Parts: sequence; C-alpha cells; structure tokens
Amino acid sequence: MICKDRVVIVTGAGRGLGRAHALEFARQGAKVVVNDLGVSRDGSGDQTEGPAAEVVAEIRAMGGEAVASPHDIATDDGAKALVQLAVETFGRLDVLVNNAGFLRDRMLINLGEDEWDAVMRVHLKGHFLPLKHAGQYWRAESKAGRQPDARIINTSSGAGLLGSVGQGNYSAAKAGIVGLTLVASAELGRYGVTVNAIAPAARTRMTEEVFAATMAKPGEDEFDAMAPENVSPTVVWLGSPLAADVTGRVFELEGGKITVMEGFRHGPTVDKGERWDPADVDTAVRDLLAKSATPEPVYGA
Ligand SMILES: NC(=O)c1ccc[n+]([C@@H]2O[C@H](COP(=O)([O-])OP(=O)(O)OC[C@H]3O[C@@H](n4cnc5c(N)ncnc54)[C@H](O)[C@@H]3O)[C@@H](O)[C@H]2O)c1
Repeated sequence: MICKDRVVIVTGAGRGLGRAHALEFARQGAKVVVNDLGVSRDGSGDQTEGPAAEVVAEIRAMGGEAVASPHDIATDDGAKALVQLAVETFGRLDVLVNNAGFLRDRMLINLGEDEWDAVMRVHLKGHFLPLKHAGQYWRAESKAGRQPDARIINTSSGAGLLGSVGQGNYSAAKAGIVGLTLVASAELGRYGVTVNAIAPAARTRMTEEVFAATMAKPGEDEFDAMAPENVSPTVVWLGSPLAADVTGRVFELEGGKITVMEGFRHGPTVDKGERWDPADVDTAVRDLLAKSATPEPVYGA
C-alpha cells in the first residue's frame, strides 16, 4: 500500500496503460480519478464515458475509491475541470499521471497538417494543460503553508527519445514531452512537486498491429512481458512518497525491465577562441564526431 490515501489523476485511464496504472494505484491504496474521453485509436469517433466508467467500477469492486472524468485534457477548460474534480471529490491532489493520447502515423512527406496538429495537441498540449492546472493547485497549497509531496509522471516514448520512422508527428510530440518534463521538474520543485517521464512498451490497441509478432501472448504459465500491467509498478512507485528525491528523469519500462535513459549531454568540444573559417570546420567537426558516442538507430530505420 505504498500510495495509501494519495489522490491520483490518470489521464486516458479507460484502456491500455492508463487503465493498468489506475488499477495498480487503487491496489496500492490510492483514490483515483479515471479520466478518459473514450475515443478511437486515432482520436476520432464519438466520445463515450464507457471505458472510464468501467475502470471506476473495477476499482470500486475491489473495495477502492474512484471517480470518472470525461474531460478532454487537451483543452484548458477540460484540464482545469479535471483537477477541480479531484480536489472536490477527494479533498486534495497528490499525483498527476499524464498518459492520454493517440496516433496518426504517416511518412513525413505524406503527413497532413491536420494529422500533425491533432497528435501535437493531444500529447503535448494534453500534457502541458493538466500539468499547469495541477501545478497552480500545488503552488497555492505550498503558499498556504501546506507543502505538497506531489508527483507528475509524464508519458514519452521510445519514438520521442530515439525517433521512429512513420511517426514524425508522434516522435516530435513525445520528444517535446521530455523537454516539458525537464523544465517542469526545475520549476515545480520549490512547491514540493517532482516531475519524471516514462517511455513504456506494452501490448495495447495502440501497438497491437505494429508489434503483432513480438507481442503475441505467451502460454498461461509464462511471463507475459508485453502486458501493460508490467509498466505500472514503476509509475506507482514514482507517484509514491518513496520517490520524493527523484525528479527530471526518464525511465524506459517494458516487461520486467527498468532502464534509466541518459539523454543529451555535452560531448567532445573544441573552442578556437575566435570565429571559425567554414573550411576549417570540416576537420574540426569530423575530429569531434570520431570522439563522440554513435547515436542509437531510429526505430524502423
Ligand atoms: N503501448 C505502448 O507500447 C506505448 C509505447 C510508448 C508510448 N505509449 C504511450 O502511452 C500512452 C497510453 O497509450 P496506450 O498504448 O495505453 O493507448 P490506448 O489507446 O490503449 O489508450 C489511450 C487512451 O487515451 C484516451 N484519450 C485519447 N485522447 C484523449 C483526450 N483528449 N482526453 C482524454 N483521454 C483521451 C483514449 O480514449 C484511450 O482510452 C500514450 O501516451 C502512448 O503514446 C504507449
């Protein structure tokens, strides 16, 4: 019960990874706001409260406390109402898990402006707005003398960290989420808020086509490495009081594996102390590249 009585929002918690996080938070004693618009895999289609309501029913059936949120997290009103719902229902907010999103995959030269905008909106704006409103709540708490022990867990992706062919919009949004995580970690620390990101891999409707071969379900007694439930224990730990000193980090989570991702850092440098002649840059940069680590390949390249 490492999250006993903590109040947790999970966005996009009606299905897949978000659902698994919500259920594990509830098992660990948290009260959960289950947010989901109930949209299709590409974000289109009628919105329905069905998936969020089902997860709420599952949590209540196990003796836990939960409430459904039908808010669109990529709108200012929706994100604000989501945070208000947590505070009005359970009296406080301790953890925000930004997870909701969808895909519109296409090679860059075929990618439409609407497909770019929709994916940037749901992932990048859909992380920023709940983060902003939760942050405002925690700042007010801190100023009122009730220093929070609060957490934000963002959802990036291997696509955002290494790149993924056919997912230029998604990779850009997920890389943006890493930048957002670093800045939020630095800005919100003074209010008692840690901010970390995960890059998960699991079998959900988002990935079942892409990874069909590698994600096949194993036999009954074998470890199902691609089950979404494998990602949740680290998310719940990040949301718990135990992880108070961990912030600004990115963790890749898949099966039984937990990996700390090491991002950009200054590599080999040369300083001439004056402006370079463009022709001399060739030798200088080749020398630096020879001394630097080779980037990991882009997924699907
Ligand atoms: N499954 C993977 O292997 C994988 C890998 C890397 C990153 N991710 C990320 O993990 C997160 C969860 O993905 P998943 O695989 O569980 O997908 P999923 O499609 O099963 O779940 C996403 C949920 O988000 C909801 N949603 C979409 N737009 C919303 C909005 N505007 N407001 C509220 N809810 C909304 C959907 O209704 C859906 O239930 C996503 O951010 C995804 O990009 C997943």
